[in-house]
Amino acid sequence: MTTHGPSGYPLLGNLPDYLGNKLNFLLENAQKYGDWVELKLGEPTFLLNNADDIKYILTTNHKNYEKTPRLTSERGRKFSGKGILTTKTHEHLRQRRALQPAFHFKIIAKFAREMVDNTDEAIYKWKDGTEIDIAEVMMQLAQKNILRAVFSNLADQLPEIAEDIITRRTYLGYIFGSLFPYPEYLPNSLNRQYRQAKERLDQFISAEIERRRQSALTDDLLSMLINTRYEDGTPMADTQLKDETLTIMLTGYETIGEALTWCWHQLAKHPEITDKLIKEIDTVLTGKAPEVSDLSKLKYTEAIISETLRFLPPTWIYIRMATDADTLPSGAKVPAGAKIYLCPYTLHRNPLYYPDPDRFDPDRFLPEVRKQRHRFAYIPFGGGTRLCIGEAYAKMQCVIVLARITQQWRLSLISGQAIKPVPGITLHPNQAIKMQVNRRQ
Ligand code: HEM
Repeated sequence: MTTHGPSGYPLLGNLPDYLGNKLNFLLENAQKYGDWVELKLGEPTFLLNNADDIKYILTTNHKNYEKTPRLTSERGRKFSGKGILTTKTHEHLRQRRALQPAFHFKIIAKFAREMVDNTDEAIYKWKDGTEIDIAEVMMQLAQKNILRAVFSNLADQLPEIAEDIITRRTYLGYIFGSLFPYPEYLPNSLNRQYRQAKERLDQFISAEIERRRQSALTDDLLSMLINTRYEDGTPMADTQLKDETLTIMLTGYETIGEALTWCWHQLAKHPEITDKLIKEIDTVLTGKAPEVSDLSKLKYTEAIISETLRFLPPTWIYIRMATDADTLPSGAKVPAGAKIYLCPYTLHRNPLYYPDPDRFDPDRFLPEVRKQRHRFAYIPFGGGTRLCIGEAYAKMQCVIVLARITQQWRLSLISGQAIKPVPGITLHPNQAIKMQVNRRQ
């Protein structure tokens, strides 16, 4: 009998308790058992709560810890084909090296102006006292930002493409979330809509690749990918180009939309933090739109984003599978085939790294405080070779959107709403988050 995890029901193990309330179940057990928790969820499963173990899994011995078949199998690859997110370790490095330059800060910095313009467009109808659903506004804005970064020429088609992406994501959420999903060939309406959306997206991306080859369009992410070369000088095959484009379109907005949503939610609950934010923004920007050169000066703004990603990390969990048996730095003995839960939601609430973890406090991320913490005690973007490729882009967007809106507006929560995080593929709110916007005096 294990002393490092909760006892479970016969046959079902911990599954009923986990499915009943994933976040609470994982958190309670992390608090109870410390460095690691052994769970009975089908295969032996280890929830890690110790930064040294996490560093070991993501860097030192990462080759022994593969992404799970849920992502890398045929079914998993429905998400984005053979794109970088779902490649297995042995194919990953070559692809990652080829793609990395397109996400260098020097390149993505070019999208800053577009992000300001899109933010202005998203809020231009606001009037003093208008009521909005902040989750909806942030999600649409983040989606527009990534689509226009990938396809700089996208204007009229944007609503259709956006809708097809949402259909695709809804379908994948269903496939990943159901124990027994309908087979794809059944002619029900969800399957039909998914197939149509998939076809339209495929055709659209192919046509855009062709259009760039025919013309001299060069200033967007798709053009960058077309011009990408592997180390031996060869270009990417068209099927790979399509899969990588789809990966970016699918991964590049929901997490940002959620991060910004949770950020506004916390700010509305903490007026004293909002006051400090306003002070920094007014001092640094002196009324002009945020530019890339301002970003390094907006330290408190960035700390608010970082604290949001600690408190409510959109990618609240990611999973690995041990190829061979191994012993972790904490002493946990991991058998071959075991699942490893890397859970920012629970790790970021470990009081060893974050005293008083349930308090939202951006000061934890001021540079002098942050540098005293273990690097792998903070993993909203992962780490090691599979570190999020969009990290710099996401952080830049969050700071720009937060700063641009705060320059003009103050948001407050409409009372009487019971907002809770729901752990789906990402951590989304259980309902619309109604807020009132007021023009700053
Ligand atoms: C706040 C926003 C974001 C969060 C919290 C986030 C989180 C993460 C995490 C935790 C991983 C690692 C998963 C693992 O190791 O299993 C990851 C990987 C990835 N993310 Fe993000 N992400 C964000 C934004 C973005 C954006 C904007 C893009 C694209 C423009 C993106 C594209 C990717 C890709 C392609 C990978 C796979 C990288 C690889 O395996 O080499 N993400 N992300």
